[in-house]
Amino acid sequence: MRLILMGPPGAGKGTQARFVAEHFGIPAISTGDIFRANVSQGTPLGVEAKRFMDAGEYVPDEVTNLMVRNRIDEADASPGFLLDGYPRTLAQVTELDGMIGFTGHQLDAVVVLTVDPEELVQRLLQRAQTDGRADDTEDVIRRRQEVYAEQTEPLIGVYRERGILVEVDGMGEVDEVTTRIFDALDVVPQS
Ligand code: AP5
Repeated sequence: MRLILMGPPGAGKGTQARFVAEHFGIPAISTGDIFRANVSQGTPLGVEAKRFMDAGEYVPDEVTNLMVRNRIDEADASPGFLLDGYPRTLAQVTELDGMIGFTGHQLDAVVVLTVDPEELVQRLLQRAQTDGRADDTEDVIRRRQEVYAEQTEPLIGVYRERGILVEVDGMGEVDEVTTRIFDALDVVPQS
């Protein structure tokens, strides 16, 4: 399976990615997690990414695309993968099409989690108290939401037109959402 998990900040992408990846026996690849690992290790990529992340902006496409290309070239991703948080721009969509097309495979489904805006803010403010993520301040959360609406929401239409969009209600308990995702994906033919 080659899957994308999309949704606004706080929709539950990271939470659900683990369960979905395990279910299909594929790696969950989170661009946010890879950036954060680089930030905490102080690598050049982390130094570059940090200033964008802390401001709630997207890391430039060239940097992000190269990072994903290298990651999906790794052996564990050859049977398939779940991308959490990539692509987020139209340029990233084009780049991903090239990466997957080059291997002769295709994207099987794009899952979009939908959650009420108020619930999103509550989840992230709550996480701010427990995890202390640098970008979970109220101002930066707002900016992340704006950037998502401007740059990533249009991707939903792109994948809908391709007939591979799967919209899933992301409200409710974590395990209820997981069940909805499994039910929706279990009818998708695996490539
Ligand atoms: P990223 O880490 O992907 O952040 P995000 O998209 O803002 O998403 P979050 O991680 O905040 O939320 P989520 O949807 O994963 O929800 P989660 O499961 O964590 O990216 C961070 C930054 O990296 C970006 O802003 C950008 O700078 C950069 N970046 C990443 N990808 C990029 C790209 N492709 N291009 C350019 N830049 C990129 O859940 C949130 C909280 O809610 C948690 O506390 C969780 O426990 C809780 N929760 C989850 N589900 C439920 C539920 N059902 N009920 C109650 N609480 C729940």
